[in-house]
Amino acid sequence: MDAQSIILHLLTPEGRADPYPLYALAHELGPVAPAGDGLVLVCGYEAARQALRDPGLGADSGLTAWGGDADSRPSLAMLSRSLLVADEPGHGRLRASMAQAFTARGVAALEAGIGRITDALLDGLEKAGGSPVDFMDAFAFPLPAHVICDLMGIPPADRARFRAWAADLSAMLEPVPGPADLDTADRVAAEVGRYFTDLVGARRAEPREDLVTAMLAARDQGLLRDDEELVANLAILLVAGFETTTHLLGNGLRLLLDHPGAMAGLRDGTVPVQGFVDEVLRYDTPVQLSNRVALTDGVSVGGVPVPAGTHVVVLLGAANRDPAHYAEPGRFDPTRRDSRPLSFGGGAHYCLGALLARLEATVAFGRLPARFPALTSAPGAEPVRRDRIFLRGHEVLPVVPNGAGTPGN
Ligand code: HEM
Repeated sequence: MDAQSIILHLLTPEGRADPYPLYALAHELGPVAPAGDGLVLVCGYEAARQALRDPGLGADSGLTAWGGDADSRPSLAMLSRSLLVADEPGHGRLRASMAQAFTARGVAALEAGIGRITDALLDGLEKAGGSPVDFMDAFAFPLPAHVICDLMGIPPADRARFRAWAADLSAMLEPVPGPADLDTADRVAAEVGRYFTDLVGARRAEPREDLVTAMLAARDQGLLRDDEELVANLAILLVAGFETTTHLLGNGLRLLLDHPGAMAGLRDGTVPVQGFVDEVLRYDTPVQLSNRVALTDGVSVGGVPVPAGTHVVVLLGAANRDPAHYAEPGRFDPTRRDSRPLSFGGGAHYCLGALLARLEATVAFGRLPARFPALTSAPGAEPVRRDRIFLRGHEVLPVVPNGAGTPGN
């Protein structure tokens, strides 16, 4: 199968449900494969790492890479004002407007709060006991949602709508979103825009110790040009900071259910929790793609020339399973050492929330196996994957917290 066919297959429901066989075919073509129409596919680990860091490659919204029109849609207009798709000049100041909250010190200060939210949610799971419960609904969505909302200063009463907002808005990151999904993303972008405009107004009148207030100060210092840019970057934090971590938790739990040895190992300490989190990120990363575009001529990726304007699609999920880099890449092995998956990207756009996401997952998977040694899949209720390729995760993941299984079985 050539690179163009691999792309077409990745965009089908089957490809989205399980892209990994297609990634294996892509590896047979080599680390970098031209895919026609000014598009290049990168699946090799080293080539992907280089592409993400190459200053000759700029950020690119998925849609421009795949032929979409970035100007005609409010959701895409919002995305285009965000740091996610900005180059210099501009990217550095947008990133600086929010970076303070995500330093090692800033994130460490959140640990106690993350522990409290985790325990409260685990108490909720305990109440379900031997009855089936949706892990996404009961844990994987609320944990990161509360963490990011606490950080941003979003009142608890407003949080219920955030799950649907984030899910609807993130459709704009799909390579080829359906027109109906984009219509929804446009409507939600307007709602989210109004919400953050009001919140910014409230914080302007009455500053607090939160990220919205801090970004407002950054706007006053000129790091953000206007309120539209402020609101767009608050909205992108919502999308980037919450559903991604949700799917790390969901994908991790699915792997725990499928690998009871890992569950037992986390409990008895033979599987280090950080190693487990790294292996979940490597084996089934929540963010599967990162898009770049060649800014000038003379750039090459993995030795393949990419003329100015070439769209470079970095398949993070494939790079994380590169057989030239990882021994037995298709085997889930939470005792791998030093695996350094590319799940948080690299270079100027390296995920700002990587430390936070890792901390949330480490706290969650550090506590969950000890609290629920007999956690099992809910009999007769299948997990349902989200039908997306950019963000990979679950819609529904039914579990029984105190299942009938023997601990460590
Ligand atoms: C498991 C969870 C997460 C994953 C897998 C993830 C992944 C990524 C990736 C791959 C990028 C780079 C995109 C690119 O270069 O094209 C990125 C950027 C970003 N992420 Fe995350 N992310 C996660 C969690 C978070 C969290 C918790 C936050 C914030 C609270 C966050 C905020 C951001 C921001 C602001 C950017 C844009 C950085 C820039 O463009 O300079 N992410 N993330």
